[in-house]
Amino acid sequence: MDSNGDGIGDLQGIISKLDYLKDLGITAIWMSPVYPSPNADNGYDVADYLGIMPEFGTLGDWQELADGCHQRGIKIIMDIVVNHSSDEHPWFIESAKSKTNDKSDYYIWHDPVEGKEPNNWRSVWGGSAWEYVPEREQNYLHLFSKKQPDLNWSCEELKNEIYSMMEKWVQLGTDGFRVDAISYLDKPIDFPDSPEPSMADGYSFCMEQLIGRDKTHRYIHGMNEALKKYGDVLMVGEVVVKDTADMQRYVLDENEEFSMAIPFVPPVVEIEAWSPKKLKEDLFESYESLKSTGWCARFLSNHDKPRQVSLYGKEGEFGEQSAKMLATFIHTLPGTPFVYQGEELGMTNVYFDSIEEYDDIDTRTYYEGCLLAGMNEADAFKKAQHISRDNARTPMHWNSSKNAGFTTGDPWLKINENYLKINAEKQINDPDSVISYYKKLITLRKENKILVYGDLKFITLCDSDNVISYTRSYKGETWLIINNFSDKEITLSPAEYDSVILGNSKFKKNSISAYEAVIIKI
Ligand code: GLC
Ligand code: CA
Repeated sequence: MDSNGDGIGDLQGIISKLDYLKDLGITAIWMSPVYPSPNADNGYDVADYLGIMPEFGTLGDWQELADGCHQRGIKIIMDIVVNHSSDEHPWFIESAKSKTNDKSDYYIWHDPVEGKEPNNWRSVWGGSAWEYVPEREQNYLHLFSKKQPDLNWSCEELKNEIYSMMEKWVQLGTDGFRVDAISYLDKPIDFPDSPEPSMADGYSFCMEQLIGRDKTHRYIHGMNEALKKYGDVLMVGEVVVKDTADMQRYVLDENEEFSMAIPFVPPVVEIEAWSPKKLKEDLFESYESLKSTGWCARFLSNHDKPRQVSLYGKEGEFGEQSAKMLATFIHTLPGTPFVYQGEELGMTNVYFDSIEEYDDIDTRTYYEGCLLAGMNEADAFKKAQHISRDNARTPMHWNSSKNAGFTTGDPWLKINENYLKINAEKQINDPDSVISYYKKLITLRKENKILVYGDLKFITLCDSDNVISYTRSYKGETWLIINNFSDKEITLSPAEYDSVILGNSKFKKNSISAYEAVIIKI
């Protein structure tokens, strides 16, 4: 929500919507980074870890936001980006000057090898992961864009600066952190070549060489040590994991690393590999591996993914129905549900007319990559449109007025054209709307411990992979949840059902209709 008409959402805008959020029932807000940033990657390139981006407001506004949240029983979670900073951070500017300055060790520098890059690593968004700086006569490592130099965690001073930065935010009133791209903190000192140098996406080498390293886990544990004196501080890590043991190390209580983790899968991979069957298998695996003393973050949407209705549900005729089904799914699983802005309205992907209208670096570099691979412009555009992170980043739809009520000025990113159909004002007083359904689910979960603590068991009620059904059991009570991830009605094998607790259709017992979801007491 933009409060001052400059077209950019801001802290005062969020403050003006706190009652909306309280009414929705959420108990914590995670904001993507709001620190000063040249926006090479929409704020995930931080130029000052303790400041607020002027276009979002001031530290005073942040304090007002935190107080406003706390008065309403809402916690506030800051997104911290500490694998890398911006190249415009004063640390980097200093570090780049020479091999001997105060901050010379804050980043990862390497001499060129035979006049070339130190190794063949490619960055996430294409091109070499090394950039040469003539002043220092060395290359620095950047796993993401060249405007996002990787921080050197093996440098004690740097590490302590990060820990004390986290302490300062807690002292100011932050209740927790979402820790960005954290699985690559430690780097192998010999920087071996990647076995598959031709792969354009950086994830391949990250997978091979950077994840699951012992020191990365120790650095994260160190964050907890630094914050221990403040009591409970929620730590949500965005992780890429090597295997089950790696995931457990991140999340099981006794390891004191994260409270829960957001596993990262690159959007392209996610879209191409997705199926209800795979979703179910992943769920099963994460539940089994973390159920002893761990906890899961549950989400289908965030700022890096397409809109969930467009990806896992179906736009159009089944838009509302599938939005409610997906909501049921997320809110009835063990773990903490995360709702991404606009998801509670059933917002969908955008279909901008040209690549120039997309702002996201990932969309643009992906498009260029497709062209380089020989694809024609139209096909490349279609593919980029499909995976674009801007699908989820277009402004929130508040009402039917100009620019969906988001701004009185020109919005920083175009508004989705369907805002007249999908907006908060239209839905709020409609008992059958998507948002009303979200409110019921959120309340249900608050009032019934079974949805929080109940054991999870997958059960099979039909021979279709498109239905995901499971029970939750707690203190002698059992609830059955059935979700149809398809646009076809599916026959269910006969079973004993008690009362329906909540659903998005009239449950017929012997079948489940297109995108139907139902929660039943058995
Ligand atoms: C995380 C963020 C993403 C960002 C990247 C680099 O994956 O969620 O938005 O581009 O890290 O910081
Ligand atoms: Ca503004």
